[in-house]
Amino acid sequence: MLKNFLNEAKYTVVFTGAGMSTESGLPDFRSSNQGLWRKKDPSKIASTNALNENVNEFIDFYRERVLGVKEYNAHKGHYILADWEKRGIIQSIITQNVDGFHQQAGSKRVAELHGTLQKLHCQKCGKVYDSVEYINQEYYCSCGGVLRPSIVLFGETLPEEAFQFALTETEKADLFIVLGSSLTVTPANQFPLIAKENGAKLVIVNQERTEMDRYADLVINERKIGSILKELDG
Ligand code: NAD
Ligand code: APR
Repeated sequence: MLKNFLNEAKYTVVFTGAGMSTESGLPDFRSSNQGLWRKKDPSKIASTNALNENVNEFIDFYRERVLGVKEYNAHKGHYILADWEKRGIIQSIITQNVDGFHQQAGSKRVAELHGTLQKLHCQKCGKVYDSVEYINQEYYCSCGGVLRPSIVLFGETLPEEAFQFALTETEKADLFIVLGSSLTVTPANQFPLIAKENGAKLVIVNQERTEMDRYADLVINERKIGSILKELDG
């Protein structure tokens, strides 16, 4: 059925969450067996308060995350999506992920709603660094300000350019495919609804039920994203 949707669609947008990268080795946030937020309270670690009031724990946590995105890589599923963009099967990707794996695999039209862990910037002067600085245990800018990952923390707004690109793409879509997101975080989780309201077909591929399943034309829970993409690409 998903193959038919892809063949019939004129403008397909793919929306990915942390479930797109678990098969690369990165943990997701809320799945029952491995989610990061099952062990830590995100508001205490992934927030602007944590950065200002708890900087050592904040840096320790994100140094671990940076090690993850530097050590692990895009998997076959990321490369299939990049190939589909080249072949015109899909038109763009909206991602909540901060690992940069879609771009690593060759995808060009990507909206990173929550920024990227591949970069750091100075909290004081805004100077941008590669996040390898965290691995080298360099935590301060030449101006003395603290370096933080260029991701969206709880309490921050999403990058305007990425948000607008995601909105424009969503409004053009006649097929909107969610891969690996619990769809629990606003405002990212509004895009599937906007697509649906605009008359697009909505497909949700996620190992656990999501809040938005009831609006979907097709829900696939029982299989992993990697195997589904390989089968579709076969
Ligand atoms: P994060 O800092 O990227 O997300 C911060 C949260 O704030 C997001 O849920 C974002 O949606 C929310 N937010 C931003 N603007 C908002 C707004 N206007 N209204 C409401 N909510 C808004 O990620 P995190 O939560 O800090 O996760 C911890 C770490 O786990 C991340 O740094 C990431 O490196 C790592 N991780 C990454 C992946 C991946 O990239 N594939 C997967 C799992 C974990
Ligand atoms: N195949 C299919 N589904 C998967 C797979 C897989 N291989 N691996 C995990 N999943 C599913 C999980 O069951 C889970 O429901 O992916 C979903 C991931 O949901 P979350 O862990 O909530 O991640 P996400 O939706 O991306 O979180 C949104 O919250 O803290 C923030 O910034 C963080 O961007 C993230 C946002």
